[in-house]
Amino acid sequence: MKAIAVFPQQREVRLIDAQEPRLTGPDEVKVRTLEVGVCGTDREICGFHYGTPPEGSGHLVIGHECLGEVVETGPAVRGLRKGDLAVLTVRRPCGLETCPSCREGRQDFCYTGAFTERGIKQQHGFMTEFVVDRERYFIPVPRELREVAVLVEPLTIAEKALIEVWQVQQRLPWSCPSAGGERKPGHCHHALVLGAGPIGLLGAMAFANAGFSTVVYSREGEKSDKADLVRSFGAQYISSEVTEISNLVERMGTIDVVYEATGASRLSFEVLEQVGPNAAFIFTGVPGLKGPAAIDTDRIMRNMVLKNQVLLGTVNAGRDAFENAIRDLGDFMRKWPDSVRRLITGRYAIGDYRTPLLSTDGIKNIITFN
Ligand code: BGC
Repeated sequence: MKAIAVFPQQREVRLIDAQEPRLTGPDEVKVRTLEVGVCGTDREICGFHYGTPPEGSGHLVIGHECLGEVVETGPAVRGLRKGDLAVLTVRRPCGLETCPSCREGRQDFCYTGAFTERGIKQQHGFMTEFVVDRERYFIPVPRELREVAVLVEPLTIAEKALIEVWQVQQRLPWSCPSAGGERKPGHCHHALVLGAGPIGLLGAMAFANAGFSTVVYSREGEKSDKADLVRSFGAQYISSEVTEISNLVERMGTIDVVYEATGASRLSFEVLEQVGPNAAFIFTGVPGLKGPAAIDTDRIMRNMVLKNQVLLGTVNAGRDAFENAIRDLGDFMRKWPDSVRRLITGRYAIGDYRTPLLSTDGIKNIITFN
């Protein structure tokens, strides 16, 4: 079967012929790959800056945003049947006795760092025709989401962040009584999303859908397609072309939550100085290491203490975030179907893999397997 693989030693990305996987345990499921999304992480791996092949292998099959259709199940599989659609989680547990989170199935919070990730770290990924894994790593997807379900994995980043924001902001019971519960308008509900790539735009949809008055701040102009897309789902768009960070609050009001989706650390710390009392600031980007930069640490620390602010980093996602993503994607499709469709800007056959992996054009580009 065909697969897209990165050979870090030879600095090559190639279409290879791989062995079709077979079920080896009773709780395993085999899917035929339908679509795999391409993200910044894949491009980093293809630029040989990130990613590690499995032990003993000279290559890594990439891809971690997978939608598949079940073709075979082991005798102990209960929740999936042939013909079902499913997406897969990315991280696999470290297996070490000393790691309580992995033991609980929460490898997204692994303590040891010895976790693996399909398509990223020491495990082959999903840009291949068939995938086998244990049932616990699949999440069933309703048929009506077939067209957009490849967006589930990138949406899980925001879903995990939202779960964490609700948990943290339980400390403000007058304005955030409970996750998804009744909220009092005007309190704690101005969300600022930094960046208008797929993670930012899906995050903006998730925050808007959760009742936040949501603003996306990015480079493109206020008359651009991106700006128009943001407004199409009820969020506000502010361009850095016309509004400096120091003027953001003037335009959008108090910033209660920031969802960072740029990987730009400098910009993020500048925004951190602008956030309001009791705010939560969430980092999701993984910046390349470009060396130290000067920031006013006294001012940041003083602000954070005197304003009860929380700075939170979040990576990967557990089953709960995948389930919320599938539920919310259904909401998005009921409320803003055209906006969701506009996120998918290109579908490429596996033979044309170079274009989406090497270019940064469009929003979410996808490789299809037919
Ligand atoms: C993936 C996560 C992964 C992270 C770090 C992201 O692109 O969506 O699942 O944990 O990269 O490797």
